Amino acid sequence: MIRQATPADLQTLAQLHSQCFAESWSAQEFARLLAIPGTFALLADTDAGFVLVRVAADEAEILSVGVRPERRQQGLGRALMAAAAERAFGHGAQTLFLEVSANNAPARTLYGALGFAEAGRRKAYYNEGGRKADALTLKARLPLGKSA
Ligand SMILES: CC(C)(COP(=O)(O)OP(=O)(O)OC[C@H]1O[C@@H](n2cnc3c(N)ncnc32)[C@H](O)[C@@H]1OP(=O)(O)O)[C@@H](O)C(=O)NCCC(=O)NCCS
Repeated sequence: MIRQATPADLQTLAQLHSQCFAESWSAQEFARLLAIPGTFALLADTDAGFVLVRVAADEAEILSVGVRPERRQQGLGRALMAAAAERAFGHGAQTLFLEVSANNAPARTLYGALGFAEAGRRKAYYNEGGRKADALTLKARLPLGKSA
């Protein structure tokens, strides 16, 4: 089951984010982001994963998505992305963007399977424990499943 996060979930979102990323975002940071018009978060399956999305006019962006390590590869990431895309489309977005490290194979496989294609690349944008990695901007037409 996927549900929309509420102000009561800020701590949960921060905790999930810290389990998924080296750089953690605090509950206050989530509160700040969710206060921006057009921004929403979804939580999956007893809070095993989250996605944070911003919609601005006809474009939307995945700001962050993650699934608890012990709950990965069970379809939750795909379900969260599909729900985020559907909701963004419902809010008027025609295109969905996101940024991913070129080294993030699991995420890139997921996004490729959902129909995202590379729209740009920032060379050596990320510093991952001393190792530089390119940032890829990926783009998909909404609704997902329709070709560009
Ligand atoms: C990326 C992430 C959200 C995927 O979540 P997930 O719940 O494991 O994904 P799903 O189980 O829905 O997998 C969907 C598809 O993604 C791909 N995939 C997921 N994990 C993979 C892995 N470890 N290796 C290769 N492909 C993988 C597969 O194509 C999979 O489809 P399949 O199960 O039919 O083969 C999760 O790995 C994660 O939280 N990573 C850390 C945070 C992160 O990197 N977020 C993205 C930042 S841009």
